[in-house]
Amino acid sequence: MPLSGSSVAELAWFKGIITTPREFVMNTNESTRLTGKNALITGGGRGIGAAIAQKLALLGAQTIICGRNRDELATTARTIIARGGACESFRCDITQLAEVEHLARSVQDKVGPIGVLVNNAGVGSFGGPLHSLPPDDWDKVLNTNLRAVYYMIRAFAPAMITKRSGDIINISSIAGKNALPNGAAYSASKWGLNGLSYSVAEELRQYNIRVAVVCPGSVHTDLSPHEGKDPNRMLQPEDVAHVVEMLVTQHPRSFASEVVLRPTQKP
Ligand SMILES: NC(=O)c1ccc[n+]([C@@H]2O[C@H](COP(=O)([O-])OP(=O)(O)OC[C@H]3O[C@@H](n4cnc5c(N)ncnc54)[C@H](OP(=O)(O)O)[C@@H]3O)[C@@H](O)[C@H]2O)c1
Repeated sequence: MPLSGSSVAELAWFKGIITTPREFVMNTNESTRLTGKNALITGGGRGIGAAIAQKLALLGAQTIICGRNRDELATTARTIIARGGACESFRCDITQLAEVEHLARSVQDKVGPIGVLVNNAGVGSFGGPLHSLPPDDWDKVLNTNLRAVYYMIRAFAPAMITKRSGDIINISSIAGKNALPNGAAYSASKWGLNGLSYSVAEELRQYNIRVAVVCPGSVHTDLSPHEGKDPNRMLQPEDVAHVVEMLVTQHPRSFASEVVLRPTQKP
């Protein structure tokens, strides 16, 4: 009978080929690496969030996705369940504090405490210079990309502190590190998100909670304009999901706090 991936790793460990601690070797079977963990992904109905939810479900997590569009949430949940994964979906506008608090109560009642929180939901704004941006658009971008992350951490970090473990991953952008002409509000929201992430990471690491930030370049989704870019060279949502996988499957003692993700070839 062919050996499974974990059996091969076990054998290598017994023979002394692998010298990492035994409990880590035991946990190399892809579909069980997150078994027993609840992972909540905001904006999991489409794009990068859907890819992250699919990846974490594949690793054995009970996934929970939220967003405003029920049909997209249902489609992602169906896809995950059809592949043997577990997914619950909740409608929630994360810019509304009362909705986030209701989400936290519903998730706690239906699924239990969250072990992995991926703050992925976001909106773009790339239409022109800041002086021509309508104030409502400024509010939408900042409230979704920054304020709502505070709401989510406020709602879900206390249970992680009680459990003294957890991963919070904030999906930022390379626009949070660079200048972005005609996208100043978006860039400001992501620079803010990076500062929030670095600071909260220091607040929570004493409780064994890792807060990491991922800064991808342009990803092939509906969010950003692709003019002049070759979609085949652009990052794909699965590439961001792979980074999230790496972050949540690190050895518990190690903490990669930031990943800047670029396409190999400039698109
Ligand atoms: N695409 C890129 O080039 C790129 C590059 C770097 C970083 N990012 C970041 O990656 C994240 C995901 O972007 P994407 O490319 O996957 O965009 P997308 O395809 O437009 O998806 C955005 C997601 O956010 C959700 N969302 C937006 N506003 C929400 C709200 N008020 N409440 C709840 N959910 C909300 C949307 O769901 P509903 O519409 O159902 O609410 C949707 O699921 C964003 O934070 C974005 O800034 C993207």
